Order: sequence, then C-alpha cells, then structure tokens
Amino acid sequence: MKKMMKTVSIFMAVLLLVCSCVAPVNAVSVWDVFWADEEESARGIIMQPGADETQRNFSWYMPQDVTECSVLVSTNALMLQAEEYEGDVIDSYQGDKVAKVTVSELECGETYYYVCVSGEEKSSVYSFETVEDDAFSALYISDIHISGDSRDSVKDTSFAFADLLAQASTRADLNLILSAGDQASDGLRAEYEGLTFSPLSRGLSFATTIGNHDRKGVDYRYFTNLPNEETGMVSSYQGGDYWFVKGDVLFLCLDSNNASGTDHLCFMKNAIRENADVRWRVVMMHHDLYGGTIEHRESENNLLRLLYSPMFDECNIDLVLLGHSHHYSVTDVVYNGKSVQELTDGCAIENAQGTVYMVSASVGRPREAEEIPYSDLIAFGMEKYTDRLYNIIDFSADAITVSTYEMNGEEVVHSFTLTKTDDYTAPQISIFRKLFSRFVNLIGTIYAVFNNIGVFSDLKEDGFDVALKDVVF
Ligand SMILES: [Fe+2]
Ligand SMILES: [Fe+2]
Repeated sequence: MKKMMKTVSIFMAVLLLVCSCVAPVNAVSVWDVFWADEEESARGIIMQPGADETQRNFSWYMPQDVTECSVLVSTNALMLQAEEYEGDVIDSYQGDKVAKVTVSELECGETYYYVCVSGEEKSSVYSFETVEDDAFSALYISDIHISGDSRDSVKDTSFAFADLLAQASTRADLNLILSAGDQASDGLRAEYEGLTFSPLSRGLSFATTIGNHDRKGVDYRYFTNLPNEETGMVSSYQGGDYWFVKGDVLFLCLDSNNASGTDHLCFMKNAIRENADVRWRVVMMHHDLYGGTIEHRESENNLLRLLYSPMFDECNIDLVLLGHSHHYSVTDVVYNGKSVQELTDGCAIENAQGTVYMVSASVGRPREAEEIPYSDLIAFGMEKYTDRLYNIIDFSADAITVSTYEMNGEEVVHSFTLTKTDDYTAPQISIFRKLFSRFVNLIGTIYAVFNNIGVFSDLKEDGFDVALKDVVF
C-alpha cells in the first residue's frame, strides 16, 4: 500500500510536468493551474532532516496575524489519531511570520502523513517515509538557482527544478535531497517559496547549505530549520554549520562562505565525537575545491584547499559534495593534496585512504567551461558543460554508490562506489600538518570577520535593515 501511494504520487507529479511541457502555446498549462493554487496560509513549506531518522524539521511562511503553529502527523492519509507537534512562531524579515516545528519520535520504516497548521488554517496533506535500516537513496544536486523577486518571475526556474525532481524520482526510491548551495540566486523569499513548490519536495528531507548567492539576501535564515546548527565565534548572518545522522552516515553541512576554520574544525570534531560509531562521514558545502575549470577562481580555490583539505584529512571525511563552479567533476581519492588511489568510471574502491571530492553541475544555470584543463586530481568530468545533471547516491552501511545522470538521458553517465570493511583504518594526519592547519584556521577566522563587514555593507546597500553585530558575529 505504501509503495503504491508513493508510486501514485510520483506518477501524478510526472504527469503534471509532462502535461505542462506539451501544453500548446497560449493554453493554460497544468503547471500554471497548480502554480496559482498554492495556499496562502502556508507558503514555502520545507521539511528538513532532523537530528536523526526519528525527527524531521519543518518551516514555512505564515500571514502576520498568526500566533501559533504546529504540525499534525498521522500514519494514515485521513489524519486519524494525529499527533500534534507545536512549534515556534518567528518574525520574518518582511513582517510576516515563520513557523519552525520539530517532529520527533518517528518510527523507522514507516509512512507518515502531515499537515502544517498556521493558527486556524490547515495546509493540504503531504506524506513522507522514514528509512527502515541503513540503506537509503539521496538526490545530490547543486546550484538550483531559483531566480526572481516575485511569484511570477520565479515560475520558470521553479518548474525546471520540479522537472528534474520528477525525473530523478523515477530513478530511485529517494528519501533525501542533498543540495550544495545557491538554492536561490538572490536569497529572496519568493525564490525559496518557488524552490519548495513541487509536491515531491515536500515528501523528501531537503538538506540545504548556504551558497554565496543565498547570502545575497537574508531569507535563508528564516526559510530553514536545521538540526544541530552551530554558529560559533564568527558565522554568516544567514546561518551556520549543522549535522544530522541518517542510516550509518554522519552528514556535516558547512557554510563555506564563512572562512572561520577554527569554528568549522570545532564543529566537525564535536559532531564526530558525538557520533563516533557512525561509519561514514560526508561533508556538503558550496565552494568547489578541485574542479579547476574557471581560471579566475583558481586563486580562491587554492586558498580554500589550504583551509579545508587538512581539516577533511584530519576528520577522515569519506566524501565531499560541492557546487559553485557549475561544472561537474569527481576527483581521485585525495589525501594531503595528492592522488592516493585512482578513481575510474564504474570502479569500486575498498577502504579508501583519503577523500573523494565531487562537484555537481548546476540545475538552473548550466554554463560553458573556460578552456582550462582539469587538474591531475580530477578522475572524470563532463565534455559538454551545458548539460543539466543530477546524481543519485545509494548509501548503505557497507557502501556508497554515486550514479550521475543527464537530464532526459536514460543511461548512467558516470558512477563509482566506495566500500568499507570492518578492518578499515583511517590515515592519521601528521603533527606538522595539524599545527599548520590550526594556524591557517586562525587566519581564516580573522579574515571572516573582515569579510562579514563587507557583507554587512552589501546588505545595507541592497536596502536590508540589519545590525552590524548580527552580521559580523
Ligand atoms: Fe551558483
Ligand atoms: Fe556559488
């Protein structure tokens, strides 16, 4: 029954999108009708991961007169015997309200139905599934770039994302979206509402991280509801680092706009200490490190590598998911800035002695590469950079398999697998690199303060009424 409900829901979403695509010019498409029909009382509903599989975090925009919010959760679509979880009502930047609700005590391997309650108003019923054991599938994408400052202007880019989501949902039984930043082009509320408009996105845990474009506005701060979030000494105004555990994977989501290495390392070490028995460690952040296809960004990439690579080596990160360059690439297994194990298309690497770094192409803004050869560390990339790509990652206790697909393509374009056995031992970083990394981290923290002063001035120039101390620290 569960599977049937899910299949029907995916079928309806795909049908909706296909109908929209084939609608004759001047006819009102199904997407138009759907677009016009969203409820006023709960806009931009997003369901983000909770601290672990027993929790989900919800957030949505509400009218300004609403003073209470909750999420009703039931195991049946009629919402009988629903459990009510009350949340916090926050003032948004525009004066409207934002609901932030955490649902807990969920059981694994169950289908749940939920309704978002804004005062007296109730949303439609949506559903999601919890994962039964350590095996689950995630969609990994980046740079969705929903663009526009109004409901009308974000429609096309929202549709492009919904289209991709519908297609990816036919490839795997998805439970999670991993989105490596630049969800929005200008960090505006209308863009985040468009991001979450597809009914499919409301049935999946939607993990996001802050891109440089998300930092152009202030709404990411209100739109998200993230578990285990830490802002440290210096952070972005829009949010900080956060972690969650799903299956046997610890996801560490970093705000790479913030160069405070001291804070990032402290955050990762604390999260790892709390989850020492979790087998896999996956980092997601926005800025590309090894892609090397945009010439003018190479100096920035060099500095970022200097900052992040020693930390990832020290924390024994298995896989790093990135974005920003809009150019797909996958490295060999990298340790201490060198290739230590070659990655080939379709390969399986056992007990990797380092980290694989991967950049997904842009969902919304595919672009041509400048003619710079890949660095020696890149195992494979794409020959046509204008393609829209997405990646399905199958996680289990023993393996992580990444499969990359082209939009409207049938075959897997590239794939690789990482496996771990019980006798896996991680490499140990040398004391010299550790000390040098601490020094670089401190320089990064000082730089982050000055960088935030620049961000404050940009936000003020764009008309945002923010306080200096809130933006800088
Ligand atoms: Fe981008
Ligand atoms: Fe970016």
